[in-house]
Amino acid sequence: MNSRTRFLAACRGEETDRPPAWMMRQAGRYLPEYREVRSGSTFLGMVHDPEKAAEVTMQPIRRYGMDAAVIFCDILVPPGAMGMEVEFVEGRGPLLGPPIRTRDDVERLTDFDATEATGFLGDSIRNVRAELGDERAIIGFCGAPFTVASYMVEGQSSRNFENTKEMMLGDPESFDRLLERVTDNSIGYLKNQVDAGADVLQVFDSWGGTLDAATYRERLLPHVARLVEEAKSNGVPVILYVNGCAHLLEVMADSGAHVLGIDWRVDPKEAIARVGDRVALQGNLDPCTLFGPPDVVRQKARQTLDAFADQKGFIFNLGSGILPKTPLDSVQALWETVLQPSTAPHSA
Ligand code: CP3
Repeated sequence: MNSRTRFLAACRGEETDRPPAWMMRQAGRYLPEYREVRSGSTFLGMVHDPEKAAEVTMQPIRRYGMDAAVIFCDILVPPGAMGMEVEFVEGRGPLLGPPIRTRDDVERLTDFDATEATGFLGDSIRNVRAELGDERAIIGFCGAPFTVASYMVEGQSSRNFENTKEMMLGDPESFDRLLERVTDNSIGYLKNQVDAGADVLQVFDSWGGTLDAATYRERLLPHVARLVEEAKSNGVPVILYVNGCAHLLEVMADSGAHVLGIDWRVDPKEAIARVGDRVALQGNLDPCTLFGPPDVVRQKARQTLDAFADQKGFIFNLGSGILPKTPLDSVQALWETVLQPSTAPHSA
């Protein structure tokens, strides 16, 4: 089994020799070689440069040898292609403008052709494939409709999403239309990534977990399920990741995704019991574990692997993205633990 066949097998709920593994935000500021490339450009400049994007995508693979490379890009690229101004301001995070608040704002957005508007992403993927070869998987991605819409409505990162929820409750039709338009555009954007060579697609719902389960099911799931269905029609497995998802596992399983990405607030055994026979699982080590000493990291990583040992179809990951100040010796300890060949077949 090579890394790619191992990854694809786990996505489909099949047995693997050991769990395949990668890490959300694995291309990023915790790596000195990333900061080196980054020091000469802006973040979006790197995203739009297929050589730099491929270079930073490969950096963590060269250093640690994860089973999959996640392509260097951002979930806020599509809002830019739909006509919004999007910039990343040092120390402040993303800024998008003007914010989408009314029906007119929603209608003014434009639909984009991914081969033209985001062709750089296809080029980045082809560059990564040329260096990565066929033995490891490439993960393409987009944001889930609610998460992307929340940045479009707020115009920036938000703690409580007041404007988003105000629109969702006060003007449900316009908000639904916004989710529909984000979904429509995400479909072509994902297809373009598969055409360029992505083996797997992940949908990031970073903020959907701020809604209760009934609201998620009623208001978001129709859009998420349509996105997942269209993504699957490209012939690749789809991972649905929701941060803060302990109350949402059954709703997520109803999306049709092959794999659910879960965070550390969900007990692995409970996740397996609730949905493990319907979907594969991915997760779920707390990224802050990596601020502990290497011995503790090894122990916690081992515990996560053991807790998921009975799950048919398991992909090791953190429960959310690795943080910029994470110490490298802990990251090293993590990958030594997770990638060591296991003696017993996983979920035999
Ligand atoms: O995972 C990877 O290595 C692939 C690339 C990737 C990035 N962003 C690169 C990035 C992926 C998959 C994302 C997804 C993303 N982007 C999400 C969902 C993931 C999650 O954590 O739930 C979200 C919410 C965003 C939006 C976003 N992008 C924010 C809020 C920020 C600013 C915060 C920060 O860390 O500065 C970004 C910037 C960003 N995206 C960086 C990277 C490597 C840091 C940019 C830099 O170098 O300054």
